[in-house]
Amino acid sequence: MRLILLGPPGAGKGTQAGYICEALGIPQISTGDMLRAAVKAGTPLGQQAKQVMDEGGLVPDDVILGLIQERIGEPDCANGFLFDGFPRTIAQADGLNEQGIGIDAVVEIQVPDEAIVERMSGRRVHPGSGRVYHVVHNPPQQAGKDDVTGEELVQRDDDREETVRHRLSVYHEQTRPLVDYYSRWAERGGDGAPRYITVDGQRPVEMVRDEILAALQGN
Ligand code: AP5
Ligand code: ZN
Repeated sequence: MRLILLGPPGAGKGTQAGYICEALGIPQISTGDMLRAAVKAGTPLGQQAKQVMDEGGLVPDDVILGLIQERIGEPDCANGFLFDGFPRTIAQADGLNEQGIGIDAVVEIQVPDEAIVERMSGRRVHPGSGRVYHVVHNPPQQAGKDDVTGEELVQRDDDREETVRHRLSVYHEQTRPLVDYYSRWAERGGDGAPRYITVDGQRPVEMVRDEILAALQGN
């Protein structure tokens, strides 16, 4: 299955991606995680992306499309994949279509802006795997440590309140239009039209997970 997870920063895309990918046996393709890895490794891409990401802006479409094209050519993507944080602009969605990459379903996780800042301030991540926690809503078994490896959890550089607010405005301007793009396409139907699934992301993590999996598996 080929899936897109859509939703504002902090909607729970990374959290739910982990469950969906495990249940369906497909890889998670998070452009955010890929860019953070490039920043950490100090590659030319990372050097280019760092400032944009720290400010909460978007990395150029052609750079992202190049990354995606390369990634989905890898063998583990042959039976499907889940895009987390991509596409993020109409140009990226068009680019995906131009590359002939069909999508089976788009899952939109809905969370209002007011809830986002609180979520981001409590977020902790395991840089090695991208696993996501929240100090209150989804705490690790041992404070500050990853459940699987026991390694230190960290806060993301772009989770400062001011940056989060900017990321939200970028979301509304540039990414939110994809809600209409995909939901209208699903309504029109026809060859290659994806299913469009919406879930209320303001409930406990497990409830959101169960609803998404039921919608995807109940085809
Ligand atoms: P990216 O890493 O994609 O960030 P984002 O889309 O802003 O989303 P987040 O990762 O912040 O949130 P999430 O929805 O994954 O939520 P999470 O599960 O972590 O991108 C980062 C940057 O990279 C961008 O700003 C941009 O610069 C660049 N970039 C990336 N992709 C790009 C692209 N395609 N084009 C251009 N630039 C790109 O959850 C958040 C918190 O809430 C956690 O603490 C979690 O534990 C908690 N939580 C989750 N679910 C619940 C729940 N149900 N109830 C309570 N708390 C919950
Ligand atoms: Zn994420």
